[in-house]
Amino acid sequence: MKSVVHFKPGDVEVLQVVERPVPEAGEGEVRVRIAVSGVNPTDIDARRSRAGKVQRFREPHVPGQDGAGVVDAVGAGVTGFTDGDRVWVWDAAWRRHEGTSQELVVLPARQVVHLPADASFDVGASLGIPALTAHRALTSFAAGPAELRPGTLQGRTVLVQGGTGAVGHAAVQLAVWAGAKVVTTVGDERKVVLAQAAGAHHVVNYRESDVRDEIKRIAPAGVDIIVEVNAHANLPTDMSVIAPHGGISVYTPGGGETRVPSYQAMTKNVQLSFILTYTTAPAEKDAAVRSVSAAVEAGALAVGEAAGLPLTRFPLSDATAAHAAVEQHTTGKVLIDVAD
Ligand SMILES: NC(=O)c1ccc[n+]([C@@H]2O[C@H](COP(=O)([O-])OP(=O)(O)OC[C@H]3O[C@@H](n4cnc5c(N)ncnc54)[C@H](OP(=O)(O)O)[C@@H]3O)[C@@H](O)[C@H]2O)c1
Repeated sequence: MKSVVHFKPGDVEVLQVVERPVPEAGEGEVRVRIAVSGVNPTDIDARRSRAGKVQRFREPHVPGQDGAGVVDAVGAGVTGFTDGDRVWVWDAAWRRHEGTSQELVVLPARQVVHLPADASFDVGASLGIPALTAHRALTSFAAGPAELRPGTLQGRTVLVQGGTGAVGHAAVQLAVWAGAKVVTTVGDERKVVLAQAAGAHHVVNYRESDVRDEIKRIAPAGVDIIVEVNAHANLPTDMSVIAPHGGISVYTPGGGETRVPSYQAMTKNVQLSFILTYTTAPAEKDAAVRSVSAAVEAGALAVGEAAGLPLTRFPLSDATAAHAAVEQHTTGKVLIDVAD
């Protein structure tokens, strides 16, 4: 089978396509024939990590946390899957050497999830990192909900900072699906159109307007939940627009150390939550997978320009260009077509 591998950390040039033996599905495992692999910034971080040191891995590393395809083999003791089932996978390369940028990947059955017949592999390959992170960011507060379904955010106002990023887009869609009034910030006018296409009720161009004033005008009583892509840049604004007893979920620190306006936070009894999708507690991850699956089933997590998330795709042979596109902050989702 064809795999994208790297034998040492580094820039995109370390990636190469090689032929490798087909892996067997062991007990409790499922082998998935990947059709589409989703590329995320975390894949870039993983590839570069410890870059600069002269180091070779003992085993080749295959990048790619996210992907979608069909079940190709089922290991002993696995129930609920049959060869040919359409599936999406999550956290494939977390603490493992085998990711989704290859024709076949073997994973614990828990990390393989059924994909409805009417959901494309492009949707399936865009779920793992972005949508599971977004779900956790929207559900990490004492006031709840712990799991999203239609109506669970009814009456709440959610601010998604950076609503056209992959995570931000999923957060907008999930919050809309759950019934929230959704406000989002974006960095240019094309992204205003994209965020509206994703379903955001109010879009603020953070480079051209005073976000604090705009949010206060849109939500005079404050916003209940904030999903934050750049805490370093935005936490002072977040703290000023958050409603009393609201919650702020930080999934990216942004550059440098973040100063927390703690007096303001205390006065409002604000909850500050830090999210890393990989280390989310198992019950929270299960809730995210269930909820995201339900949202996919309902058609609420669409991708593509018309749904606010333009797709940029590359063949497996050009995985280097796919990684470069993510490094260059291509708007929307970068996908690798693994199947011919
Ligand atoms: N903690 C976790 O578990 C977790 C999970 C997934 C991703 N992440 C991290 O989250 C970040 C985003 O991932 P992604 O896949 O969504 O990337 P992405 O698709 O490149 O999106 C990043 C978005 O952030 C926006 N942005 C940057 N600074 C902003 C600011 N000050 N205010 C508002 N928006 C701002 C960008 O918009 P403009 O270009 O218009 O500014 C862009 O839309 C990456 O650093 C990634 O590593 C963390």
